[in-house]
Amino acid sequence: MKALIVGATGLLGKALMREWARDEVVGLGSKEVDIRDAGKVQEVVEKARPDWIALAAAYTDVDGCESNPDLAFAMNRDGPVNVAEAAKHVGAKLLFLSSDYVFDGKSTSPYETQDVRNPLSVYGRSKAEAEIRLLEMLPECCIARTSWLFGVDGKCFPDTILKLAMRQPALDVVNDQRGCPTYSVDLARAIIGLCRNQASGIVHVTNAGNCSWFEFAREIVKGAGLATEVHPVSSQQMPRPAPRPAYSVLSPKSLQPYGISLPTWQDGLRRYLEERAS
Ligand SMILES: NC(=O)c1ccc[n+]([C@@H]2O[C@H](COP(=O)([O-])OP(=O)(O)OC[C@H]3O[C@@H](n4cnc5c(N)ncnc54)[C@H](OP(=O)(O)O)[C@@H]3O)[C@@H](O)[C@H]2O)c1
Repeated sequence: MKALIVGATGLLGKALMREWARDEVVGLGSKEVDIRDAGKVQEVVEKARPDWIALAAAYTDVDGCESNPDLAFAMNRDGPVNVAEAAKHVGAKLLFLSSDYVFDGKSTSPYETQDVRNPLSVYGRSKAEAEIRLLEMLPECCIARTSWLFGVDGKCFPDTILKLAMRQPALDVVNDQRGCPTYSVDLARAIIGLCRNQASGIVHVTNAGNCSWFEFAREIVKGAGLATEVHPVSSQQMPRPAPRPAYSVLSPKSLQPYGISLPTWQDGLRRYLEERAS
């Protein structure tokens, strides 16, 4: 199998590049291809002639998207449409990374893949519109929704918490948003498994279990052996430009047909802390 990773220089992309052994893999960052440039996308895809394209490139700054919607839709919807067109042209399969933020968070039980999208933020809308366009263009494509991604290769919540916890005796962290933290290494392995299993349609790919940001922060501080106190606060006490869903836990049922299951988020966090320390 030959794979092309678009967004290979990001948090997930770097993990994918390291984990994807045995196959022929080409990885591109924004310097090699700007996904907003349809002609360039066509050129690199034609050159690589991959069996699979894993599309991890995105504008992932959720608050930034809120103040810059044109860039958000250009990057997160129109760019993926360009990649889908190129994939169709060469007969490659496409796996597109999407997000739990396509949901409004009003559910009280884990979201299934077929649940209705109702994004609250520009970022969520841009991802939701991309999903719809891609499924129209390439009904056999695979949309892998993930959430609360962390890893050693980029900015992420555990890294921010650890840096703050080193300098402050106490931290306030929101306790009224619930989701599934996901370790980039575990997500990368699952994505490779999905491509090898010829996956199609929407799948939810997160570490097992769920927590609030407060619970996640408490576990991070404890796992790192720090004495910093972590205090729960409400989202209202810590307003952010983009609204977030209160509950965006994704059900893992869609992975079962592929025989893929991910470890718990606590297990992923333990390995992340080891990797970060080494
Ligand atoms: N992070 C999360 O918590 C989270 C949650 C749910 C879903 N996701 C989704 O998971 C995927 C991976 O996220 P991530 O956190 O790994 O992203 P990331 O670390 O922000 O990396 C983004 C990647 O996109 C590339 N990129 C940026 N602008 C580009 C452009 N105009 N053309 C081509 N490539 C461009 C970057 O390349 P350069 O570095 O070379 O500029 C980088 O490789 C994304 O689709 C994201 O929406 C992430």
